[in-house]
Amino acid sequence: MWQFLAGLARQLPAEAAHKLAVETLRWRIGPRPPADHASTDLRVSLAGLEFPNPLGLAAGFDKNAACYDGALRLGFGHVEVGTITPLPQAGNPKPRVFRLPEDQAVINRYGFNGKGMHVAARNLRRRQPASGLVGVNVGANKTSPDPIADYRQTVAALAGLADYITLNISSPNTPGLRDLQTEQHLQSLLAAAHDGLADAKLKRPLFLKIAPDLHDQDLPAIVETAVSCGVSAIIATNTTIARPAALQNRHAGEAGGLSGAPLFAPATDILARVAGHAKQRLALIGVGGVASGWQAYAKILVGADLVQLYTGLALHGPQLPATILAQLAHLMQADGLTNLAAAKGQIPDAEKAIQHALRLSQISVTPKATA
Ligand SMILES: Cc1cc2nc3c(=O)[nH]c(=O)nc-3n(C[C@H](O)[C@H](O)[C@H](O)COP(=O)(O)O)c2cc1C
Repeated sequence: MWQFLAGLARQLPAEAAHKLAVETLRWRIGPRPPADHASTDLRVSLAGLEFPNPLGLAAGFDKNAACYDGALRLGFGHVEVGTITPLPQAGNPKPRVFRLPEDQAVINRYGFNGKGMHVAARNLRRRQPASGLVGVNVGANKTSPDPIADYRQTVAALAGLADYITLNISSPNTPGLRDLQTEQHLQSLLAAAHDGLADAKLKRPLFLKIAPDLHDQDLPAIVETAVSCGVSAIIATNTTIARPAALQNRHAGEAGGLSGAPLFAPATDILARVAGHAKQRLALIGVGGVASGWQAYAKILVGADLVQLYTGLALHGPQLPATILAQLAHLMQADGLTNLAAAKGQIPDAEKAIQHALRLSQISVTPKATA
């Protein structure tokens, strides 16, 4: 059944395919992964949370918290739902998502289309006891008179239903949002998020999701502010507004955020730089262009505790998470490692980590997808 639906999705325009994929997972249709990964321990402890494995579904796929249980059943250790805004909003006019198959990439300018925090809360209350964690990614409405107040509101409304909260200040598709990455705005934003937790009388780890287009000189202030304002983890990165010259697809010039393969190296580089500034004071989540075990491994080698993906799932189908986890376990074994903590940060230079992980995947026979 799921093979048929995955085949059908490939024939549909990108947004219709996304809707079908969400519905498919909402009905829990999908391949079941093997139960474990032999002798390699893939569990991760982070901010007081126990993740069964390091691989998560990145925000943007399950925008309204409609199908997180189905996504966890594919093998993801966590699912980040959202971005969720206080009020429902339609997002940008269609078409607003484009596949770039030759480039193994996607461009989207959805613009936080979503049903708003009350619908998301209702969906999150239906959560089944599951083997993974659910994070909630929050943002501001496009026409909000006070975007920072939107974060306080969504944090207060959703913290009780989330294992962690991510403050998304890096989407390129909401005007002004990325300005919240400046030091002064960031302090106010983080104070508002803490106020939101206090409003709800709850403690939850706060994660911060940053853009890949930040300049080198912006990173130290972001890291120091995150540390001093009680952020638990930085997620690096969101989609990029850059357009590498090598892109081939005719949609390459579309406005929006580019994700997938062309983002892998730059996002891994920013992750490595953040790791260098953070000096173990923050947990790190590596996102951007992961579609195989060696790419996940490269992000862990530069310092990621967890890895997320979205575009890989859209382009390769629902068996990808299980395949990546099997490949990752295999690569760690090839390096003589039995747990993730031993791999984290072992090669701080992004280029060297990428080369090492790629070479290892070429010389050791890694498990392939079975369909
Ligand atoms: C269609 C699409 C929609 C997205 N929507 C969101 C979003 O609502 N909030 C968010 O924080 N990130 C969003 N992202 C960014 C992803 O979570 C991720 O950071 C980025 O795509 C890089 O990872 P990838 O190359 O594995 O896709 C979206 C990405 C895509 C492709």
